[in-house]
Amino acid sequence: MELKGLILSGGTGSRLRPITHTSAKQLVPVANKPVLFYGIESLKNAGITDIGIIVGDTAAEIEEAVGDGSQWGVKITYLPQEAPLGLAHAVLTAESFLGDSSFVMYLGDNLLRDGIEDLVDAFTTNGPEALILLQEVPNPEAYGVAECSDGQVVNLVEKPAEPRSNLALVGIYMFTPAIFECCKAIKPSARGELEITDAIQCLIDNGKRVEPHVVSGWWKDTGKLEDMLEANRLILDAIETDIQGTVTNSEIHGRVIIEEGASVNNCTIRGPVAIGRRTSIHDSYIGPYTSIYYDAEVANSEIEHSIILEQSKVIDLRGRMEGSLIGKNVQIIRLEQRPKAYRFMVGDNSWIGIV
Ligand code: TTP
Repeated sequence: MELKGLILSGGTGSRLRPITHTSAKQLVPVANKPVLFYGIESLKNAGITDIGIIVGDTAAEIEEAVGDGSQWGVKITYLPQEAPLGLAHAVLTAESFLGDSSFVMYLGDNLLRDGIEDLVDAFTTNGPEALILLQEVPNPEAYGVAECSDGQVVNLVEKPAEPRSNLALVGIYMFTPAIFECCKAIKPSARGELEITDAIQCLIDNGKRVEPHVVSGWWKDTGKLEDMLEANRLILDAIETDIQGTVTNSEIHGRVIIEEGASVNNCTIRGPVAIGRRTSIHDSYIGPYTSIYYDAEVANSEIEHSIILEQSKVIDLRGRMEGSLIGKNVQIIRLEQRPKAYRFMVGDNSWIGIV
């Protein structure tokens, strides 16, 4: 039977507030493409075209962006989750969609450099009940951690105080329908969620085979600001120059994408940098690892290592901006009015660093 795909795009996104007060974190663009789209492409490249997407409060926005999947040649089914009650709860929400199929579960805010063909091959060839992706990390206590022995996963612990290995769970898993019984058998954890680690541990405790698959290329969970910027850096590191917009009186160094309708005038752009369609940049310096999405404007400013979303403006900034994530339709503008003062209109959980 064909494998199905399950992408999790519900959740709370509390670690990425205030962006997630108004938008889905899975739609934040990395190198000017929503994170979620990388996951869909990764499934499609592994030959998986029947994909369910778990959605929560941001369902409308996700459906609007992804549509029926025909832009990738896949079929998307939306699966509303009543509340973000955990990854194992999301699996149960998808039970009737998944039916008797084995499936790949992909966290919608995760990015994996090398795609998933390898693990799909290993799963199909070896036939375990579950296959989990793992990566060596320097700080395993911040992750779900797996202990392996003789080519099998023998123990899983969520954020252990004293980790017994440095192998963290990457947000991509493969399961047979045996996982449903375990998702039903477990109880909510201390944080009130049905944990997928507990469900996988239940498989192990019932004598089922759970295989590890250690990824060698990079993997990023984009759920926090630093990780989102790091993901942007990693993706931009691999872009090729593609200039469709107009460039006048400017110096362009390194690899730069300038999309159609964008204009760059009197600037120095030092790549890797991505500038979205119809965005206007003038009298500015745009430095490495910066992505500026569509219909934005930057004037008389310097920006590095940042992500700026659509329709935002950065005008006459005196210092250099770096390490920043600017939401949609934000304006950072120098005012001439008196008294000379900072004037903010900032949403809840925002963060501003001044010099
Ligand atoms: P997380 O990043 O672990 O959780 P979260 O989105 O609630 O974020 P935070 O911890 O910052 O509050 O979720 C991983 C992915 O799974 C993410 O794309 C959201 C999705 N998800 C669901 O679809 N349903 C759920 O019940 C949970 C917990 C997460």
